[in-house]
Amino acid sequence: MEHDRTPTRAWVVHPDIKSDRDRRDPVSALDEGVSLARALPDIEVIGSDIVRLPKAHAGMLFGSGKIDELRDQFKAHHIELVLIDGPVSPVQQRNLEKAWKVKILDRTGLILEIFSDRARTREGVLQVEMAALNYQRTRLVRAWTHLERQRGGLGFVGGPGETQIEADRRAIDEQLVRLRRQLDKVVKTRTLHRAARAKVPYPIVALVGYTNAGKSTLFNRLTGAEVMAKDMLFATLDPTMRRVQLADGPEIILSDTVGFISDLPTELVAAFRATLEEVLAADVIIHVRDISHEESQGQARDVENILASLGVDDSRAQIEVWNKLDLLAEDEAETRRTRAEREDGIHAISAITGEGLDDLLFEVAQRLRSVRYEDALSLTFSQGKQRAWLFEQDVVQKETQTETGFDLTVLWTEKQKNRFAAL
Ligand code: GTP
Repeated sequence: MEHDRTPTRAWVVHPDIKSDRDRRDPVSALDEGVSLARALPDIEVIGSDIVRLPKAHAGMLFGSGKIDELRDQFKAHHIELVLIDGPVSPVQQRNLEKAWKVKILDRTGLILEIFSDRARTREGVLQVEMAALNYQRTRLVRAWTHLERQRGGLGFVGGPGETQIEADRRAIDEQLVRLRRQLDKVVKTRTLHRAARAKVPYPIVALVGYTNAGKSTLFNRLTGAEVMAKDMLFATLDPTMRRVQLADGPEIILSDTVGFISDLPTELVAAFRATLEEVLAADVIIHVRDISHEESQGQARDVENILASLGVDDSRAQIEVWNKLDLLAEDEAETRRTRAEREDGIHAISAITGEGLDDLLFEVAQRLRSVRYEDALSLTFSQGKQRAWLFEQDVVQKETQTETGFDLTVLWTEKQKNRFAAL
């Protein structure tokens, strides 16, 4: 990607806090922090550090010695933006910005920036805006100092006090109410679209997985579509759907979804429910894992937890895919292949070389055989035998008589559909 602006010089700091109960491996956490930073437009990551501390300092996050050391380092490298891969309170942010003379973005702020850069659908944009406002609402201390400067310049008497903060907060709340109303409308429209689509007899297969696991690459490979696939976190934000004809089964709709990430702030999980709702409607869920990643197991756990918190129950047909097999050493790849073969519902593949994809699609078709989906049928009066068969199978949801016969809504499996066609 080319930008005409000179990129902002940024530094990534991962605070490795000993007292943190769910502390992550600092090296791969920093890695992910840097990847996240690279996903921002117009940013050049000049360097990164892990800063170990026994516990976070209330006012400044880091101890004073470390603050001085980092200040010199940032100065020497002409750093303008420091990305702190963790939560930073509004007070800490203000103090650090003052001490280092840089702009600070914490992890939530960073993810929000990426989200707002990538959101494309109306709904995605609205939800990011809401999440950003909610985030800002907690940062009003900063807005307050900013306003104070402005007002001083304009010559207003007296500084802004509580009332100004209250007014800001009220303005944000009003904006939130407005956004919520718009969002409701968008969601309603989409529900209508989905209802319309439900009449199209395509089962839905959704790809989920940790960010960078290879969902878009697999999606492209299976559909021949050109969805952005990049070695960049969150390359996809909005669900993308394509029709695919399975060799041994029905036509399906394959849906790519936004990548998961650990420590995703709860308000952002809510903000991205829209993209994940497609998963809730899916008949088969394919969980794509980057098996070559050293944190693969932890990532899988995060994805499973988020799915569970969204209400995706385990009984749903889920297929686990071990992707990027080509990146493993041959003996390790072989071990994986053997294990995947032995276990139900696991496939070792490479979205790049295409290894294992036929088997994967075969299993999808297999699973869909037992999945029931809605279909609309029109029968003439002369098709009494077919109609009787449908009732016998207990698949009829709704029936209305027309001038020439019956319109029926049925809920059936692929197998029943095929048997019906052969009647
Ligand atoms: P998000 O959009 O962040 O959720 O990522 P994603 O899961 O859609 O990942 P994407 O398809 O963008 O792939 C991320 C990177 O991994 C890209 O550089 C891909 O080329 C690479 N990749 C994906 N699958 C494979 C694979 O099977 N083998 C190898 N070697 N690289 C792969």
